[in-house]
Amino acid sequence: MSGKTVLIVGGTSGIGQSCAAIFADRGWTVVICGRDVARGESIVSDLAGPLPHSFIAADVCDEGQVENLFAQFSSRHGRLDAAFNCAGILGVPDNIPVMSVENFRTVLDVNLVGMFSCLRHEMKIMSEQQSGAIVNCSSIGGVVGMPGISAYVASKHAIIGLTKSAALEIAPAGVRVNSVSPGATMTPMQAGMISRDPGLETALKAQHPLGRIANPEEVAKAVYWLCSDESSFVTGTNVMVDGGFSAK
Ligand SMILES: NC(=O)c1ccc[n+]([C@@H]2O[C@H](COP(=O)([O-])OP(=O)(O)OC[C@H]3O[C@@H](n4cnc5c(N)ncnc54)[C@H](O)[C@@H]3O)[C@@H](O)[C@H]2O)c1
Repeated sequence: MSGKTVLIVGGTSGIGQSCAAIFADRGWTVVICGRDVARGESIVSDLAGPLPHSFIAADVCDEGQVENLFAQFSSRHGRLDAAFNCAGILGVPDNIPVMSVENFRTVLDVNLVGMFSCLRHEMKIMSEQQSGAIVNCSSIGGVVGMPGISAYVASKHAIIGLTKSAALEIAPAGVRVNSVSPGATMTPMQAGMISRDPGLETALKAQHPLGRIANPEEVAKAVYWLCSDESSFVTGTNVMVDGGFSAK
């Protein structure tokens, strides 16, 4: 047992759920946050170990629920050794002239403002502890433009900037903040896109030099590394887990 605790925001599905499994397998206590209580509790009950894993419900867009998340976290667990901010949505794909402001704002609210809302609490706790590591989930859409999903791309670019600023603010406390940028990864989010566009899976495979789509576990292992002491001198950076997509 590592004796360490990780909070995974957006841990009830896909990449976040894979992270929960990897941290639990490696002896960490895992706290999952998401909106689906039944699903969250079921995932927690399947995690490895006799550890006090738990689920705390919160919508990252609701500041009151985020306050409650961290109040509950602190009363149940105390220390926060690592946090992975993974909650994200794609939004409704549309080109910019026809995309509604509401759609654009919703994506920014979840992916960016929701992350900021959690990040400020995590940084406060870790500043007081004088230790910890935070990973924010960006995307290949955080480093290149992509037609039709401008809101998502804008949010993911902003996450990389937010991460760098957070890392600089909190480095004197010995706390590290990094982002991870997955390429196409087979999760419910990606499966949804593929089901709407039959040619997409083949096209995505061709766009990634390794010739395939990632498994969520491959992203989760990079997140684990960034949260662990194995990356103790890594902060303010963006780690691409993209099968070579951004090397072209
Ligand atoms: N799947 C990919 O190809 C891919 C590629 C690059 C980046 N990403 C990023 O990885 C992260 C996880 O995505 P995924 O592919 O696992 O998708 P997913 O849809 O399986 O998981 C998204 C998670 O975010 C949670 N979430 C969404 N809105 C929320 C809200 N308002 N409050 C709390 N939780 C909320 C969902 O409940 C879910 O647990 C996202 O930030 C996504 O942008 C995914």
